Amino acid sequence: MTRRARTCYDGARIFHPGPTPVTAHAPASPKIAPMTAARNGPLHGRLRVPGDKSMSHRALILGALAVGKTRISGLLEGEDVINTSKVMAALGARVERVGEGSWEVNGVGVGGFREPGATLDFGNSGTGCRLVMGAVAGCPVTATFDGDASLRTRPMQRILDPVALMGARTVAATVGGRLPLTLAGARDPIPIVYRTPAASAQIKSAVLLAGLAAPGETTVIESEASRDHTELMLRHFGAEVASGPDGPHGRRVTLKGQPELLAAAVTVPADPSSAAFPMVAVLIVPGSDVILTGVMMNPLRTGLIATLREMGASIETVAARDDAGEPMADLRVRASALRGVEVPALRAPSMIDEYPVLAVAAAFAEGTTVMRGLKELRVKESDRLAATAAMLRQNGVIVEIAGDDLIVHGKGTAPGGGLVATHMDHRIAMAALVMGLASQRPVRVDDAAFIATSFPGFADLMRGIGAALS
Ligand code: S3P
Repeated sequence: MTRRARTCYDGARIFHPGPTPVTAHAPASPKIAPMTAARNGPLHGRLRVPGDKSMSHRALILGALAVGKTRISGLLEGEDVINTSKVMAALGARVERVGEGSWEVNGVGVGGFREPGATLDFGNSGTGCRLVMGAVAGCPVTATFDGDASLRTRPMQRILDPVALMGARTVAATVGGRLPLTLAGARDPIPIVYRTPAASAQIKSAVLLAGLAAPGETTVIESEASRDHTELMLRHFGAEVASGPDGPHGRRVTLKGQPELLAAAVTVPADPSSAAFPMVAVLIVPGSDVILTGVMMNPLRTGLIATLREMGASIETVAARDDAGEPMADLRVRASALRGVEVPALRAPSMIDEYPVLAVAAAFAEGTTVMRGLKELRVKESDRLAATAAMLRQNGVIVEIAGDDLIVHGKGTAPGGGLVATHMDHRIAMAALVMGLASQRPVRVDDAAFIATSFPGFADLMRGIGAALS
């Protein structure tokens, strides 16, 4: 896969409304950064991983659609979210960084986006791109969406289909509904009842965000519940959202259209999907004992913790609290003897981003771990099912893909010594480096640069608890 330039957070303090300051067509400047992880004794200390990525995107987008000044603390300042902040400025909001993780957004009101002067560049981020497609679909503006080589391979038809039903029009798209594409938002959006074709919070959120500007009720039905941060945050900003069960595992979410969204304070807790990497590292490096602080514990995000506990992991909740509508906790994690388990397909939505690092834990467990129903992994930042299997094989672990299932034969240890191809995928890079902290020989990744999309400071934070990353 060829790389294109990524938009980097440049430390600029204010992003004014104005021509979008993105680098969609800037010359490529590849900054490939290989990295190696090796054994280095037990991990110890306290660690707070950066803010939750899902909440950070949503806080910026809802802040931009609200009236008044939204104050966000704990915002993830990773490249994915920084790109969303720039896109919100390009669509007319005033977005200002006032301190570390502290941001203010002056919104334009529901339906009030203005037409951007240039292509919107989402870099590596499917979440930013798909959520903003929904938000734009409900406004009478035309915008072109683009991203890096990884994002250009990812399916966007799953968003274009429902927003077309609501009145938005795809003016131009690359074959198969891929980026770059141009979307004309609806002048008079139509509320719909939509059943999502996959358990995807991105699809659900895009429909709800488009439905904000529609009169009447927009309903999304999903047969398996996906993360509900959009619903929770919409309520926090004053919208009326009803949510209840639909069938044994599904949910039906209804938004009352044309609310006046009012600016709100948002506190973003630590990202459980980022916490997953030090968590598994601590479990597999003998003698380790670490406290992870302020981790978001939304039950639709804690599938990994449930699975690791079933595997015999020592993960103790030492302080639990609620903030801004989302539960959070400090977690004490200790090195543990793990055993193989079967992970049901139904659990996938609550841990969809955690399979690469769970597969590493499975390699260090005794016995076989079967992870079922991983079809959606094929359309993440990389084909994560194939990339996870290749990562393990490169390091001497026996692994199979059977249909949509991943099967790892754990031996309590891993030989290591491999070079892992990360395919522009931050989670493959971090999972491989976690493996190298416990394997018999070091593990090297071809490119750790994409870690900055979701977990800036990963290497330094891990070194701070004793990890050898070079
Ligand atoms: C996200 C939803 C998930 C997840 C992604 C973040 C979100 O994607 O993989 O990293 O913030 O809505 P899908 O909902 O498409 O599975």
